[in-house]
Amino acid sequence: MTHRLSPFAQDYSLIIDLRRSLLFWYERQGRDLPWRNQTDAYTIWVSEIMLQQTQVKTVIPYYQRWLVQFPTIKDLAIAPLQTVLKAWEGLGYYARARNLHASAQIIVRDYNSLFPENLEEVLKLPGIGRTTAGGILSAAFNQPVSILDGNVKRVLSRLIALPVPPEKALPQLWTFSDELIDPQYPKDFNQALMDLGATICTRSHPSCLLCPWMQYCQAYNKGMQSELPMRESSPPLPHKK
Ligand code: ADE
Repeated sequence: MTHRLSPFAQDYSLIIDLRRSLLFWYERQGRDLPWRNQTDAYTIWVSEIMLQQTQVKTVIPYYQRWLVQFPTIKDLAIAPLQTVLKAWEGLGYYARARNLHASAQIIVRDYNSLFPENLEEVLKLPGIGRTTAGGILSAAFNQPVSILDGNVKRVLSRLIALPVPPEKALPQLWTFSDELIDPQYPKDFNQALMDLGATICTRSHPSCLLCPWMQYCQAYNKGMQSELPMRESSPPLPHKK
């Protein structure tokens, strides 16, 4: 891939404006979600795993029940797998519950029951990829570790009017997310980026007029917000004779 990522990457004052405007918006318009006022890495980890493939409004009651049933990593580690899977019932993608359980046992055994703070160690835990690790480390420890989930891919692709499908430009999008994250407020920045994608920069009918990044958004400025991000072209239909 040879196209340059964006003019933003070279323009530091623009990056500063993007951070400021997003954080200002988040202060007033950010969602009040139950994991946001948490400082315990365990509870943040649980929320990020539940949120991997499940919507916020579905997750909330499961999340609250889970923390009553398994209030600490130790409680989760010593619980029988069947009990853990039962608590997960209805959320789907049960590998997530198995991985949470297995990871809790690793954390008890290898990390004195404390969720690790080191990115490499976090990435070794089953069920935690790069974006989940960034979500956890930024929210729990305010570390400047970037994220790139589906919503963020869409927001960043529109911001720079990415001329290819996001899946074809993942290294560039990761670099952009790394460059954007506010080193002073990484926790709020990542949460704000997720909120922007979930509430304003939605897949269809984005609310551009309410967006703190409207003036900076290349998709909006080209009137292309509905066409971006580009989709992977589907394979050609089989030719019928
Ligand atoms: N999706 C993944 N992580 C999230 C979070 N912390 N808040 C809202 N949605 C999310």
